[in-house]
Amino acid sequence: MRIYSKIAGTGSCLPEQIMTNMDLEKIVDTSDQWIQERTGIKQRHVVREGETTSTLAINAAQKALDAAGVTAEDIDLIVVGTTTPDLIFPSTACLIQNVLGCSGIAAFDVNAACSGSIYALSVADKFIQSGTHKRVLVIGAETLTRMVDWNDRTTCVLFGDGASAIVLESSNEPGILSTHIHASGAHGDLLNATVGVSTGLKNEPNGGLKIRMKGNEVFKMAVLTLGRMVKETLKANGMNKSEVDWLIPHQANLRIITATAKKLNMDMDQVIVTVDKHGNTSAASVGLALDEGIRTGQIKRGDILLLEAFGGGFTWGSALIKY
Ligand code: ACO
Repeated sequence: MRIYSKIAGTGSCLPEQIMTNMDLEKIVDTSDQWIQERTGIKQRHVVREGETTSTLAINAAQKALDAAGVTAEDIDLIVVGTTTPDLIFPSTACLIQNVLGCSGIAAFDVNAACSGSIYALSVADKFIQSGTHKRVLVIGAETLTRMVDWNDRTTCVLFGDGASAIVLESSNEPGILSTHIHASGAHGDLLNATVGVSTGLKNEPNGGLKIRMKGNEVFKMAVLTLGRMVKETLKANGMNKSEVDWLIPHQANLRIITATAKKLNMDMDQVIVTVDKHGNTSAASVGLALDEGIRTGQIKRGDILLLEAFGGGFTWGSALIKY
């Protein structure tokens, strides 16, 4: 009998501090109108001193554990999607494990930029399907504002901080039907962080670390690739577009989300949109949308969910799930 991964509970956390588009007008040459028209973003949450990727993640994880009705001792693996770890090592997953108090279980990070949550979900699903693990805590958490170039209006208006968590449980009932993950390193130059440990930090503020993106080219590739991925996912499951109840996309840009929904012939009221409230939170974003859909009661048990993301690398991925 096939073993499935079933979503037992979800949680999320956004830092308290909010930065609106109007706040950004005071920092760079931009406008609320431009940002809303081009991206759909109205505000983003920004960490304060002392808040980190792991502190947000722990908060989200606790809520997911509560929603699943389990404690950290019931978890046997932690997988964290992040591209903004607190430290190079210990991994963010190890930092989270220490605070949750489930010492001894495996814990590791996955770096796939904005596709981090789907990559982490896919990895966790494989562990459960293999039968080696029964209950996995999957987290997507980011503090991208720590590496945003606040002088670059083409990127600083886009990103925000946040974390989301999912408790996945082994089940004989259908849960995750399939996951699909891909990458194209050939496109790395279109969206990246400018420096790293091995390339050497620079003698500049923040070590010279900034996000750089050729937004227009990323936009076109994202729309094209997500359309293809939707087809691949449905074909793998022998399903039609009409059988999907909810599209839960990466929250980067409302125009990309709308284009993908159109390819699925879905009305926007079948799409969970949260990008207006928190901007692009990279690996946290799909989980933030999923948690909102579940907590508001829009997503119901038995619904078919299509999760998808596209990001730096390039990386992209999807998951088809019976909730
Ligand atoms: N305010 C005002 N004007 C601006 C701003 C701003 N914040 N940013 C750029 N502009 C200007 C540009 O300078 C340009 O001016 P010009 O015509 O005089 O040269 C004009 O607006 C249009 O710029 P474009 O880059 O062509 O604008 P576009 O419509 O492509 O929107 C955006 C830009 C929002 C970045 C879009 O391209 C996008 O969303 N790209 C994809 C982002 C994404 O999905 N990333 C993937 C995940 S991220 C990750 O993995 C970490």
